[in-house]
Amino acid sequence: MFLKRVTPTSSSEMKTKPAYKCKTCKDSGIKGDGETHYQNIGVTGKRFCDQCEKGNKMFRDWFYLPEQQKQHQKFKQDKIARALRLSNLSPVYLKAKLEDLKNNKALEETCKLYLENWKKIKPLGLGYYFWGNVGAGKTYTAAILANELMKQHFVEVLFLKMPEAVARIKKSFGSDKKDSDKNLFEKMRDAEMLILDDLGIEKVSDWLADEIYQVVEHRYSNNLPMIITSNQSLDDLAKIYREQVSSRITEKTKSIKFTQKDKRQKLGEEIKQTLF
Ligand SMILES: Nc1ncnc2c1ncn2[C@@H]1O[C@H](COP(=O)(O)OP(=O)(O)OP(=O)(O)O)[C@@H](O)[C@H]1O
Ligand SMILES: [Mg+2]
Ligand SMILES: [Zn+2]
Repeated sequence: MFLKRVTPTSSSEMKTKPAYKCKTCKDSGIKGDGETHYQNIGVTGKRFCDQCEKGNKMFRDWFYLPEQQKQHQKFKQDKIARALRLSNLSPVYLKAKLEDLKNNKALEETCKLYLENWKKIKPLGLGYYFWGNVGAGKTYTAAILANELMKQHFVEVLFLKMPEAVARIKKSFGSDKKDSDKNLFEKMRDAEMLILDDLGIEKVSDWLADEIYQVVEHRYSNNLPMIITSNQSLDDLAKIYREQVSSRITEKTKSIKFTQKDKRQKLGEEIKQTLF
């Protein structure tokens, strides 16, 4: 009996036999000899190989060095500061945080889940529709989500009180200032997260109905999330704006009815009692 000997059939097969475990970095863990800027973490350094465990480990060892961490922290703080500046959130609401919902477990839980699942929720463009009576905490809850999204996920949030936003846009008509509010509708269409506070209390002209329809339609088709607060149910909103508006909002938001009594009365009483 003859044993078949296994031999390379051609010399080219010999050459392609992998000499390295990682072809990209030839097991050095480094790609090329230049530096690169890691945009999403804000640090600059060697171009580590992202195709093998060695490269990944070398990157981690380098990234967790104190100097890189300092740079990364600064990058995060700058991002948050910028988001807060652009958000248009008023100072009273800038302090609103998740902890403030501890007396309302159900609401706290849904907001917590929303924030935890943000990475999955964002591409679906899902948000909230908070509605109900005056002073029940709708705006405050929307502000909590705005703050936490900015701080935890560096989301660029645009927070607008409806009547005020409309007034700002009207005022900008005829103004030729570069930074006027003429393009506020455009910003509303494109913001990473749009929060519309008090939708439905503004006076709705045909012009405004058209513009709001365009904002909602653009965000709906591009899976851009919205959080809306209103005194109106979605059915009633369909009468104020159009059914096309409320139907798109219905699909893309979780509707939560706020039924708590007007918190302002109690808060106001407490402060006045202590002063006079
Ligand atoms: N969880 C909370 N912790 C602390 N303060 C809160 C909380 N929720 C609401 N408040 C306070 O209660 C008052 C009413 O809340 P908010 O402005 O959110 O009500 P609203 O539902 O938006 O009312 P409206 O329909 O009139 O706009 C505000 O002074 C707000 O700061
Ligand atoms: Mg409100
Ligand atoms: Zn490699």
